[in-house]
Amino acid sequence: MSTYVFDQAWQKERDRLTALQSLYDGASRRLLDGLGLTTGWRCLEVGSGAGGIAIWLADRVGEAGHVLATDLDTRFLDVHGRANLEVRTHNIVSDPLDEAAFDLIHARAVVEHLADREQVVKRLAAALRPGGWLLIEEVDFGGATAGMLVPRQETLGL
Ligand SMILES: C[S@@+](CC[C@H](N)C(=O)[O-])C[C@H]1O[C@@H](n2cnc3c(N)ncnc32)[C@H](O)[C@@H]1O
Repeated sequence: MSTYVFDQAWQKERDRLTALQSLYDGASRRLLDGLGLTTGWRCLEVGSGAGGIAIWLADRVGEAGHVLATDLDTRFLDVHGRANLEVRTHNIVSDPLDEAAFDLIHARAVVEHLADREQVVKRLAAALRPGGWLLIEEVDFGGATAGMLVPRQETLGL
């Protein structure tokens, strides 16, 4: 069962998610570009929300690339018009996830909501191709937004 605390049926949910994107998409895009994001990459956007980063990633990786956007609730990404963007209703805690499949996995403001977050981070790390990148951005409730970059390395013990 999900431990997500917000009411997803809330009529203002889209506004809330769009506001989040307005605040953080610029910084996220800079971080993602800094990882070398380029055409042909296969990406996973976890908890894609209103879809701003998923759509941006799809445009960045181009026709040769692929973006899988997952969320418990995908209604805000029902219409996007991109052939290389796959949207999937998916619980990152419990639903199947391919291993060694992605060059880049990004999750923002998602992992903080999960009780099993350490297990989820391990699953995400296992879903990376060798040399792939896991970018997790979560709110530091002390103030600023904190970022965690984890290159896939067996030595991390993930
Ligand atoms: C605070 S919103 C962040 C949305 C988006 N990542 C962003 O930063 O704009 C959290 C998102 O995570 C999704 N979510 C929560 N728990 C999830 C889970 N267990 N599996 C997949 N998505 C989840 C929610 O449905 C929601 O869309």
